[in-house]
Amino acid sequence: MKSVPFLDLCTQYAPLRKAILDSFERIFDTTAFINGPDVRIFENALAQWLGVEDAVGVSCATDGLYASLRMLGIGQADEVITTNHTAIPTAEAITMTGAEVVFCDIRMDTCNIDPDQVKKLVTPRTKALVVVHLYGQPADLDALVEISEENHLYLIEDCAQALGAKYRSKNVGTMGDVGVYSFFPSKPLGGIGDGGAVVSRHADLLKRIRMFCNHGRQNKYNHEMQGFNSRLDTMKAAMLNIALPNLEEWNRKRRDIADMYQHYLKNITEIELPQMLSSISPVWHVYAIRVPDRKPFQNYLKNQGVETGIHYPSSLNLTTAYAYLNKGAGSYPYAEYHCAHTVSLPMHPGITQEDVEYVGDTIRRFFTCHQRVSK
Ligand SMILES: Cc1ncc(COP(=O)(O)O)c(C=O)c1O
Repeated sequence: MKSVPFLDLCTQYAPLRKAILDSFERIFDTTAFINGPDVRIFENALAQWLGVEDAVGVSCATDGLYASLRMLGIGQADEVITTNHTAIPTAEAITMTGAEVVFCDIRMDTCNIDPDQVKKLVTPRTKALVVVHLYGQPADLDALVEISEENHLYLIEDCAQALGAKYRSKNVGTMGDVGVYSFFPSKPLGGIGDGGAVVSRHADLLKRIRMFCNHGRQNKYNHEMQGFNSRLDTMKAAMLNIALPNLEEWNRKRRDIADMYQHYLKNITEIELPQMLSSISPVWHVYAIRVPDRKPFQNYLKNQGVETGIHYPSSLNLTTAYAYLNKGAGSYPYAEYHCAHTVSLPMHPGITQEDVEYVGDTIRRFFTCHQRVSK
């Protein structure tokens, strides 16, 4: 039986293995483990890749979001609006500042935050809007930028899943006040552990984020503010330097795979396929479809050697962590519906056309059998 893994980092990194291991040896020999030259080299390379002035490497995107919000002055008594359908770090970064997180429902088509709902949630206490480009698919930035400007809100782009995705030909992360990326291993640019980066069109803000993430200092022992420790390690930066030149190609492959899925699955009426805004170019961190009854579907695929995932099984209002907000079932109908029906299909740059065909055939077989049984 064929086996199609959900993710295959070994295949993805095999061609880079030697260069990466050589770079580790080089750093090991110099022992420049923290703030070694590779970090600045990576920050400059990423900034150039994105077409921005500068970038700050951080320990992870969660910290990057938190540091950005703190340096924007967000804290207690403030409200920050974000999508109810995201990975929990988006919300954690907000609540870690002491601010109140205000969840917003998603658009049923794109699964990203719904600008019409955002408008209704703005109050005099709202200070910022954290937009997530979920699954690597840009959110509705025209509308969201307009809402932020009209209401004097800071706009933070959570691009953890979307490095390289474009909105009207511009890189996501470069249109708000701050953009934050993750290098968690499964992300479009995956690293050798946790890692992230922050960019901003405000040079002074970015400088303060850099200081905040390095104990509030620019120079050793000259602590200009209270900060914390969230730096990108040298070895991680060295690995990312080797990986970054491949990102364009990896993202192109993801787009090709998504196109193939769309082609193979388009005639299966039981499935809701991902939909996109026009004028965007996604990077398909996740390829998520919706099916009527997820459990038997996933089990069937598993038995046929196809691994699937769920992003995410629960909208954030229904997690124990955010139960204190008292937004029970039914509060966010679209996000809750999506979470109940979504299934993520295998997606990584190493998937072949044959793999996609196999996944497509397996899914078609499932629905053929299922229909026969239920008749
Ligand atoms: C949408 C989103 N935001 C933020 C994060 C946090 O990224 P990191 O793991 O680098 O802290 C993630 C990672 O899972 C994510 O998917």
